[in-house]
Amino acid sequence: MGFSPPPTGVLSHWLSVRVRRSVQAVQRVLIRKPGGYHRLELVEEPTPSPGPGQVVVATQGVGVNYADCVVRMGLYSSAARYVGWPITPGFEFAGTVAAVGDGVDSSTVGDRVFGVTRFGGYASHVVTQPRHLFPLPAEWSMPRGASFPTVHLTAWYALCELCRPRTGFRVLVHTAAGGVGLAALGICKRLGMEAVGVVGSSHKVDPALASGAVAVIDRSSQDTWAEARRLAPKGYDIVLESSGAATMKGSYRCLRPTGRLVVFGLASMLPKAGRPVRWWRLAYHYLRMPRFNPIRMIDRNLTVSAFNLSYLFEQQELLAEAMTQLLGWEREGALPAPPIATYPLAEVGRAHSDLESGQTVGKLVLVP
Ligand SMILES: NC(=O)c1ccc[n+]([C@@H]2O[C@H](COP(=O)([O-])OP(=O)(O)OC[C@H]3O[C@@H](n4cnc5c(N)ncnc54)[C@H](OP(=O)(O)O)[C@@H]3O)[C@@H](O)[C@H]2O)c1
Repeated sequence: MGFSPPPTGVLSHWLSVRVRRSVQAVQRVLIRKPGGYHRLELVEEPTPSPGPGQVVVATQGVGVNYADCVVRMGLYSSAARYVGWPITPGFEFAGTVAAVGDGVDSSTVGDRVFGVTRFGGYASHVVTQPRHLFPLPAEWSMPRGASFPTVHLTAWYALCELCRPRTGFRVLVHTAAGGVGLAALGICKRLGMEAVGVVGSSHKVDPALASGAVAVIDRSSQDTWAEARRLAPKGYDIVLESSGAATMKGSYRCLRPTGRLVVFGLASMLPKAGRPVRWWRLAYHYLRMPRFNPIRMIDRNLTVSAFNLSYLFEQQELLAEAMTQLLGWEREGALPAPPIATYPLAEVGRAHSDLESGQTVGKLVLVP
């Protein structure tokens, strides 16, 4: 029996389906201009091919960080420096290797991986380099992999690189039930330090205690600084400050001699609920920032550090050292998995809105 071609109309339909299937579209979140959630646009484009030395990962989870909201607001300086507009936010992802470029022998198609990227993570496919990928532990889900690196690297860098942790140190952790906060509490406990968490609502107290805090201050019902003093009458050895002008002066004041204040976030200064950035409000907060006096700092033996992880992206040795240590602690069971809320990639606006509400606990992950 010979092959008889389908009638012309059927043939063209059959061909168009084949064409649509062979040029698969991938999805990416694009922000063309700074603004509210409506600026998060989902666009389709052809599947990327890896260049020499590159790997394409088909993502099954993409971590959402508060910094992504700051990128969307147009206030993230390293986004302007490294990418500009339009930009796809996203620092972390997990998925399966979909293609490898020439010269790559450390990754194979089908490998389950998680990784970091300096922007560009909010997409169904991420083009990256093997040095930014890590094998996904067999017992981890994709959302777990997608939510691990950024917050743990941030907390690790603040505590282990900038502070020289010692057993018995008292550590004050602001925004303690958020992504970075819970990661910091786990690391403090693993290193024998006693972390006191500060949270903005009562439903965050238990998750912070479960992640290793020895005590939690609920800002909504307690006097933060009176309680902080009661819990550490001699002061704190380390304060992790990601809140901003609202708390920075108090954080500095509650250090004990030889104490270290590490500043890495300014969330309380920024708008909530997708409201536009008000420059007068930022200016007001800017004027409220403490000015650190080096003479007093010498006198009281105090250190103030600040950092932004995205500027450390090329420091491969540091990244490898941090991930080796963190994954070792994770294998020991010392870093509890945080609560993770998942959202379809197309609902990225809802994820940003939830994160900016200040009510979320743990991590948010987009699922392409
Ligand atoms: N420098 C770096 O390299 C780096 C890297 C990662 C993260 N960060 C910073 O670390 C902080 C935590 O990041 P994350 O991704 O883990 O977020 P998150 O802590 O999961 O969520 C943000 C939390 O900040 C608090 N908050 C206070 N004012 C807020 C406001 N106006 N809008 C929204 N939240 C507000 C809320 O907690 P409470 O009300 O309970 O305090 C909220 O739940 C952020 O400030 C982020 O920018 C910095």
